[in-house]
Amino acid sequence: MRPLPAPDVLAMRDVRVTFGGMAVLQIDAFQAEPGSLWGCAGPSGCGKTTFLHVLAGLLKPDSGAVLWGETDIAALPEGARDRWRRETVGMVFQDFQLIPELSAVRNVLLPATFNSWTVDRSLRARALTLLREMGIARPDTLAGALSPGEQQRVALARAMLARPRLILADEPTASLDRATAATVTDLLQDTVRRSGATLIAVSHDEALLDRMQHRLVLNAGRIAS
Ligand SMILES: Nc1ncnc2c1ncn2[C@@H]1O[C@H](COP(=O)(O)OP(=O)(O)O)[C@@H](O)[C@H]1O
Ligand SMILES: [Mg+2]
Repeated sequence: MRPLPAPDVLAMRDVRVTFGGMAVLQIDAFQAEPGSLWGCAGPSGCGKTTFLHVLAGLLKPDSGAVLWGETDIAALPEGARDRWRRETVGMVFQDFQLIPELSAVRNVLLPATFNSWTVDRSLRARALTLLREMGIARPDTLAGALSPGEQQRVALARAMLARPRLILADEPTASLDRATAATVTDLLQDTVRRSGATLIAVSHDEALLDRMQHRLVLNAGRIAS
Protein backbone atom coordinates (compact mmCIF):
# COMPACT_ATOMS: atom_id res chain seq x y z
CA MET A 1 0.00 0.00 0.00
CA ARG A 2 1.28 3.44 -0.84
CA PRO A 3 1.82 5.67 2.19
CA LEU A 4 -0.39 8.73 2.36
CA PRO A 5 1.47 11.96 1.67
CA ALA A 6 2.45 13.86 4.80
CA PRO A 7 -0.13 16.52 5.60
CA ASP A 8 1.20 19.97 4.87
CA VAL A 9 1.17 22.18 7.91
CA LEU A 10 1.77 25.86 7.18
CA ALA A 11 3.80 27.70 9.79
CA MET A 12 5.82 30.83 10.48
CA ARG A 13 8.55 31.05 13.10
CA ASP A 14 10.22 34.29 14.19
CA VAL A 15 9.47 36.04 10.91
CA ARG A 16 10.61 39.66 10.55
CA VAL A 17 10.04 41.89 7.53
CA THR A 18 11.37 45.43 7.33
CA PHE A 19 10.93 48.10 4.67
CA GLY A 20 13.52 50.87 4.78
CA GLY A 21 14.49 49.95 8.32
CA MET A 22 10.87 49.94 9.54
CA ALA A 23 9.55 46.65 10.90
CA VAL A 24 6.24 45.95 9.15
CA LEU A 25 5.78 42.29 10.07
CA GLN A 26 6.88 40.48 13.23
CA ILE A 27 5.32 37.05 13.62
CA ASP A 28 6.80 34.93 16.40
CA ALA A 29 4.64 31.91 15.73
CA PHE A 30 1.75 31.07 13.44
CA GLN A 31 0.47 27.67 12.43
CA ALA A 32 -2.37 26.58 10.13
CA GLU A 33 -3.37 22.94 10.09
CA PRO A 34 -4.01 21.31 6.70
CA GLY A 35 -7.53 22.12 5.50
CA SER A 36 -8.09 24.89 8.02
CA LEU A 37 -9.88 28.10 7.02
CA TRP A 38 -8.50 31.39 8.32
CA GLY A 39 -9.76 34.91 8.15
CA CYS A 40 -7.14 37.60 8.63
CA ALA A 41 -8.26 41.06 9.66
CA GLY A 42 -6.74 44.28 10.93
CA PRO A 43 -6.54 47.98 10.07
CA SER A 44 -5.20 49.22 6.76
CA GLY A 45 -1.40 49.18 6.69
CA CYS A 46 -1.07 46.63 9.52
CA GLY A 47 0.77 44.13 7.32
CA LYS A 48 -1.95 41.79 6.00
CA THR A 49 -0.78 41.85 2.38
CA THR A 50 2.84 41.52 3.49
CA PHE A 51 1.84 38.49 5.62
CA LEU A 52 0.20 36.81 2.59
CA HIS A 53 3.13 37.60 0.29
CA VAL A 54 5.57 36.06 2.77
CA LEU A 55 3.38 32.95 3.03
CA ALA A 56 3.30 32.74 -0.78
CA GLY A 57 7.08 32.99 -1.04
CA LEU A 58 6.69 36.20 -3.04
CA LEU A 59 8.55 38.16 -0.38
CA LYS A 60 11.58 36.83 1.45
CA PRO A 61 11.55 37.84 5.12
CA ASP A 62 14.64 39.45 6.64
CA SER A 63 14.74 36.53 9.06
CA GLY A 64 12.71 33.58 10.23
CA ALA A 65 11.21 30.45 8.74
CA VAL A 66 8.11 29.94 6.59
CA LEU A 67 7.34 26.25 6.71
CA TRP A 68 5.20 24.13 4.41
CA GLY A 69 5.50 20.69 5.97
CA GLU A 70 9.23 20.14 6.26
CA THR A 71 10.17 22.72 3.63
CA ASP A 72 11.34 26.19 4.67
CA ILE A 73 10.06 28.35 1.80
CA ALA A 74 12.09 31.32 3.00
CA ALA A 75 15.30 29.32 2.65
CA LEU A 76 14.65 28.00 -0.88
CA PRO A 77 16.54 29.45 -3.83
CA GLU A 78 14.33 31.63 -6.04
CA GLY A 79 13.72 29.04 -8.77
CA ALA A 80 12.68 26.37 -6.29
CA ARG A 81 10.46 28.84 -4.48
CA ASP A 82 8.73 29.80 -7.76
CA ARG A 83 8.19 26.13 -8.58
CA TRP A 84 6.82 25.45 -5.09
CA ARG A 85 4.40 28.37 -5.49
CA ARG A 86 3.23 27.22 -8.93
CA GLU A 87 2.59 23.71 -7.63
CA THR A 88 1.09 24.58 -4.26
CA VAL A 89 -0.42 28.05 -4.04
CA GLY A 90 -3.52 29.66 -5.52
CA MET A 91 -3.16 33.39 -5.06
CA VAL A 92 -5.83 36.08 -5.27
CA PHE A 93 -4.06 39.43 -5.38
CA GLN A 94 -5.58 42.55 -3.87
CA ASP A 95 -5.22 44.24 -7.29
CA PHE A 96 -6.23 41.00 -9.17
CA GLN A 97 -3.15 41.11 -11.48
CA LEU A 98 -5.10 40.11 -14.57
CA ILE A 99 -3.76 40.82 -18.05
CA PRO A 100 -6.26 43.28 -19.57
CA GLU A 101 -5.51 42.31 -23.19
CA LEU A 102 -6.36 38.66 -22.57
CA SER A 103 -9.84 37.17 -22.26
CA ALA A 104 -11.24 36.11 -18.89
CA VAL A 105 -10.74 32.41 -19.66
CA ARG A 106 -7.18 33.03 -20.94
CA ASN A 107 -6.38 34.80 -17.70
CA VAL A 108 -7.70 31.87 -15.69
CA LEU A 109 -5.59 29.45 -17.73
CA LEU A 110 -2.46 31.57 -17.76
CA PRO A 111 -0.55 30.31 -14.68
CA ALA A 112 -1.38 26.70 -15.47
CA THR A 113 -0.12 27.05 -19.04
CA PHE A 114 2.91 29.15 -18.29
CA ASN A 115 5.30 26.57 -19.67
CA SER A 116 3.34 25.28 -22.63
CA TRP A 117 1.56 26.53 -25.72
CA THR A 118 -1.22 24.00 -25.66
CA VAL A 119 -4.10 23.89 -23.22
CA ASP A 120 -5.39 20.57 -22.04
CA ARG A 121 -9.07 20.29 -22.99
CA SER A 122 -10.18 19.21 -19.51
CA LEU A 123 -8.32 22.14 -17.97
CA ARG A 124 -10.10 24.54 -20.30
CA ALA A 125 -13.42 22.92 -19.37
CA ARG A 126 -12.62 23.38 -15.68
CA ALA A 127 -11.73 27.03 -16.28
CA LEU A 128 -15.07 27.59 -18.01
CA THR A 129 -16.95 25.80 -15.22
CA LEU A 130 -15.26 27.91 -12.55
CA LEU A 131 -16.07 31.09 -14.45
CA ARG A 132 -19.70 30.03 -14.86
CA GLU A 133 -19.94 29.25 -11.13
CA MET A 134 -18.46 32.68 -10.46
CA GLY A 135 -21.21 34.23 -12.55
CA ILE A 136 -19.04 35.28 -15.49
CA ALA A 137 -21.46 34.87 -18.38
CA ARG A 138 -19.06 35.74 -21.22
CA PRO A 139 -15.66 34.10 -20.64
CA ASP A 140 -14.27 35.46 -23.92
CA THR A 141 -14.58 39.08 -22.80
CA LEU A 142 -11.24 40.84 -22.43
CA ALA A 143 -10.33 41.18 -18.75
CA GLY A 144 -9.73 44.91 -19.25
CA ALA A 145 -13.38 45.35 -20.25
CA LEU A 146 -14.74 43.68 -17.11
CA SER A 147 -15.98 45.56 -14.06
CA PRO A 148 -13.83 45.40 -10.89
CA GLY A 149 -16.31 42.93 -9.38
CA GLU A 150 -16.05 40.67 -12.44
CA GLN A 151 -12.26 40.94 -12.44
CA GLN A 152 -12.22 39.89 -8.79
CA ARG A 153 -14.23 36.78 -9.65
CA VAL A 154 -11.93 35.93 -12.58
CA ALA A 155 -8.97 36.25 -10.19
CA LEU A 156 -10.67 33.81 -7.80
CA ALA A 157 -11.36 31.31 -10.59
CA ARG A 158 -7.71 31.55 -11.63
CA ALA A 159 -6.53 30.87 -8.07
CA MET A 160 -8.66 27.73 -7.83
CA LEU A 161 -7.95 26.25 -11.27
CA ALA A 162 -5.03 23.98 -10.42
CA ARG A 163 -6.66 22.72 -7.19
CA PRO A 164 -3.92 24.25 -5.03
CA ARG A 165 -3.23 22.92 -1.52
CA LEU A 166 -2.96 26.46 -0.21
CA ILE A 167 -5.21 29.37 -1.20
CA LEU A 168 -4.13 32.88 -0.22
CA ALA A 169 -6.77 35.50 -0.93
CA ASP A 170 -6.26 39.23 -0.39
CA GLU A 171 -9.63 40.90 0.25
CA PRO A 172 -11.41 38.55 -2.18
CA THR A 173 -14.82 40.19 -1.79
CA ALA A 174 -13.74 43.83 -1.54
CA SER A 175 -15.02 44.78 -5.01
CA LEU A 176 -18.27 42.84 -4.79
CA ASP A 177 -21.74 43.95 -3.75
CA ARG A 178 -23.14 42.18 -0.73
CA ALA A 179 -25.17 39.55 -2.61
CA THR A 180 -22.31 38.67 -4.96
CA ALA A 181 -19.87 38.62 -2.04
CA ALA A 182 -22.08 36.07 -0.30
CA THR A 183 -22.21 33.88 -3.43
CA VAL A 184 -18.46 34.08 -3.93
CA THR A 185 -17.81 33.36 -0.23
CA ASP A 186 -20.03 30.26 -0.46
CA LEU A 187 -18.21 29.08 -3.55
CA LEU A 188 -14.78 29.76 -2.08
CA GLN A 189 -15.62 27.97 1.16
CA ASP A 190 -17.23 25.05 -0.66
CA THR A 191 -14.37 24.59 -3.13
CA VAL A 192 -11.75 24.82 -0.41
CA ARG A 193 -13.60 22.38 1.85
CA ARG A 194 -14.05 19.83 -0.92
CA SER A 195 -10.41 20.01 -1.98
CA GLY A 196 -9.08 19.91 1.59
CA ALA A 197 -6.94 22.96 0.88
CA THR A 198 -5.85 25.45 3.51
CA LEU A 199 -7.32 28.93 3.07
CA ILE A 200 -6.02 32.22 4.40
CA ALA A 201 -8.33 35.06 3.43
CA VAL A 202 -7.50 38.65 4.32
CA SER A 203 -10.73 40.55 4.65
CA HIS A 204 -12.71 43.38 6.23
CA ASP A 205 -15.91 41.56 5.29
CA GLU A 206 -17.52 40.33 8.55
CA ALA A 207 -19.75 37.91 6.65
CA LEU A 208 -16.68 36.26 5.11
CA LEU A 209 -14.69 36.30 8.37
CA ASP A 210 -17.62 34.63 10.16
CA ARG A 211 -17.47 31.71 7.72
CA MET A 212 -13.84 30.91 8.54
CA GLN A 213 -12.91 28.56 11.40
CA HIS A 214 -10.20 30.82 12.77
CA ARG A 215 -9.58 34.51 12.90
CA LEU A 216 -6.17 36.13 13.00
CA VAL A 217 -6.06 39.83 13.80
CA LEU A 218 -2.93 41.78 12.92
CA ASN A 219 -2.00 45.11 14.42
CA ALA A 220 1.15 47.04 13.48
CA GLY A 221 2.64 43.88 11.97
CA ARG A 222 2.05 41.69 15.00
CA ILE A 223 -0.58 39.10 15.86
CA ALA A 224 -3.01 40.92 18.14
CA SER A 225 -5.32 37.91 18.64
N1 LIG B 1 7.15 47.56 -1.03
C1 LIG B 1 7.05 48.32 0.05
N2 LIG B 1 7.95 49.26 0.37
C2 LIG B 1 7.85 50.00 1.49
N3 LIG B 1 6.86 49.89 2.39
C3 LIG B 1 5.91 48.98 2.14
C4 LIG B 1 5.94 48.14 0.97
N4 LIG B 1 4.86 47.32 1.00
C5 LIG B 1 4.19 47.63 2.12
N5 LIG B 1 4.82 48.62 2.81
C6 LIG B 1 4.38 49.16 4.10
O1 LIG B 1 4.24 48.09 4.99
C7 LIG B 1 3.11 48.26 5.82
C8 LIG B 1 2.15 47.10 5.67
O2 LIG B 1 1.59 47.12 4.36
P1 LIG B 1 0.53 46.04 3.87
O3 LIG B 1 1.06 44.70 4.15
O4 LIG B 1 0.21 46.35 2.44
O5 LIG B 1 -0.72 46.36 4.82
P2 LIG B 1 -2.26 45.96 4.68
O6 LIG B 1 -2.39 44.94 3.60
O7 LIG B 1 -2.65 45.45 6.03
O8 LIG B 1 -3.02 47.21 4.35
C9 LIG B 1 2.50 49.60 5.43
O9 LIG B 1 3.00 50.57 6.32
C10 LIG B 1 3.03 49.83 4.04
O10 LIG B 1 3.11 51.19 3.75
MG1 LIG C 1 -3.46 44.90 1.82
